Amino acid sequence: MSESRSRSHAPPAGRKGHHMEAAAKVDVAEFAMGDFPAVDRLWRRSGLWMRPSDDADETRLKLERDPDLFLLARVEGEIVGAVVGGWDGRRAYVYHLAVAAERRRAGIASALMDELERRFREKGALKAKLQILADNHASRAFFQQRGYLLERDCEPWGKELQEGGAPPER
Ligand SMILES: CC(C)(COP(=O)(O)OP(=O)(O)OC[C@H]1O[C@@H](n2cnc3c(N)ncnc32)[C@H](O)[C@@H]1OP(=O)(O)O)[C@@H](O)C(=O)NCCC(=O)NCCS
Repeated sequence: MSESRSRSHAPPAGRKGHHMEAAAKVDVAEFAMGDFPAVDRLWRRSGLWMRPSDDADETRLKLERDPDLFLLARVEGEIVGAVVGGWDGRRAYVYHLAVAAERRRAGIASALMDELERRFREKGALKAKLQILADNHASRAFFQQRGYLLERDCEPWGKELQEGGAPPER
């Protein structure tokens, strides 16, 4: 992968992974379809609310639009984190940030979000948005310390555009 597509992130100074012997180097790079099984496994193990839009075919559609915003984190070649960014020309959206359970609290999600926000800014985005399930305390704490604010007066609304596209159950 070329330099513009992959970046190494040293863990923040003074940070030592709670579950790692020593803070490891994190490589952040773009997702490719061959990574799909590993990322799908990571998301399912991380307890994310998986939707029809997370299927392989839908992921191919996503890559047709902004492949530079679907990022992976690797430590020693192993996929340990992922995030999907979306940019529609007006808003930047963050989807499905996850880090492998045994690699958490080591700065990996921070490295992914640093790079994603950098790419959002480069595209001209003024604001990033995301949705967090109300009982997801780790995610709330993570995004809060990055400066994200809960917008209480705004409710997420949706409409299914194709049958089976958005089953309501969790
Ligand atoms: C949320 C998640 C992505 C955070 O990943 P991570 O790599 O552990 O995050 P980082 O190490 O970069 O955390 C940076 C800071 O965020 C805060 N933070 C992260 N996880 C936290 C937690 N469980 N409790 C409290 N604060 C937390 C801390 O301030 C942390 O800094 P510190 O470790 O020096 O205290 C991870 O817990 C995860 O994958 N959860 C399951 C999937 C998920 O819920 N994704 C979000 C969907 S909206």
